[in-house]
Amino acid sequence: MKIPAVNLRPALEAAAAEWRAHLDALFCRMHFILGEEVAAFEREFAASQGARFAVGVGNGTDAIELCLRAAGLGGSGRQVLTSPLTAPFTGLAILRAGCAVRFADLDPETLLLDPESAAASAGRRTAAILPVHLYGQVCDLRRFAALARQLDAALIQDACQAHGARYGGRSLASFGPAAFSFYPTKNLGCLGDGGAVVTNRAAPARRIRLLRDGGRSRGHVSVVPGINSRLDEMQACYLRAFLPHLEEWNRERRRIADLYDRALADCPGLRPVRRSPGSVCHLYVVRARRRERLREFLSRHGIATGIHYGVPLHLQPAFRDCGARRGDLPVAERAAREVLSLPLWPGMPPAMIEETVERISRFYQ
Ligand SMILES: Cc1ncc(COP(=O)(O)O)c(C=O)c1O
Repeated sequence: MKIPAVNLRPALEAAAAEWRAHLDALFCRMHFILGEEVAAFEREFAASQGARFAVGVGNGTDAIELCLRAAGLGGSGRQVLTSPLTAPFTGLAILRAGCAVRFADLDPETLLLDPESAAASAGRRTAAILPVHLYGQVCDLRRFAALARQLDAALIQDACQAHGARYGGRSLASFGPAAFSFYPTKNLGCLGDGGAVVTNRAAPARRIRLLRDGGRSRGHVSVVPGINSRLDEMQACYLRAFLPHLEEWNRERRRIADLYDRALADCPGLRPVRRSPGSVCHLYVVRARRRERLREFLSRHGIATGIHYGVPLHLQPAFRDCGARRGDLPVAERAAREVLSLPLWPGMPPAMIEETVERISRFYQ
């Protein structure tokens, strides 16, 4: 049996009537950039995340950059503290905003940015803390908010893997702006690139709206050097169709993650990464002994897996100026050698979960 790491077909089929209707309406209007679909999606997405405002942008990387620029940090060279175990785009967005990137180590159980390590790594130049809600789990926002207050720094969230997540029942936006990616495989994805910022404050929402569209205020006059990063109308059609399914799909992800947990509980060679409360289970990640061998074995049996992420950012050439060297962030470095993401998508047939578990158990026997 061939088992992909992700399969988007069930989601596309479940929402087909809705996205076809939105596309039909768009083709009647023929207004393809910053029109009614994006405006409606922004209202609907803000409401779904419990935020006052959402601003659609070109992708998650730009969403992070624009949050930093809206916080007044663009081109400042000041430090932004983040996780080394994330997509390189988190760090690249910081560099693109003209800030310096600094990394702290992780909680060894959840692999989320550790507030204590963050406090120890922060200094006078730290202007923002950027926790990453990795794998759909939510970081300890209460502690990061306290740290940000203490440092007089901004708190900006990379929520690119955490659509629909809450922290103790509170919306992410109640702690500060959160950046989302709608890359196709995310919990809420479009069929190309897309992203958004959610915030409860009107001023940053206005600023990001201005910056995403070239900084133009009247016609073709740029009043600030913005960028071209608009969520497009066609992608908004898909996002509006998928959004009403998000809660149900997140529940299904959780159910599959629970099934994996139970089935793999006694497997000797691996242990699941502990999920923080309120996780929306973007990925199901285990820490595996002999990971590369296991991965090859599964691949030979038609089972695709992923690695999120194999090289921590402080060891990637693009971030050589971050000040950290091999050995400085041991939890992240070890995790990068062990993490393996198992197949998971809403609509995944139970037989595929069983087959994956069965093959893993056989490998370790
Ligand atoms: C944690 C994290 N941050 C940032 C990004 C960047 O998002 P995008 O690919 O939409 O620019 C991604 C997606 O790849 C991500 O998973």
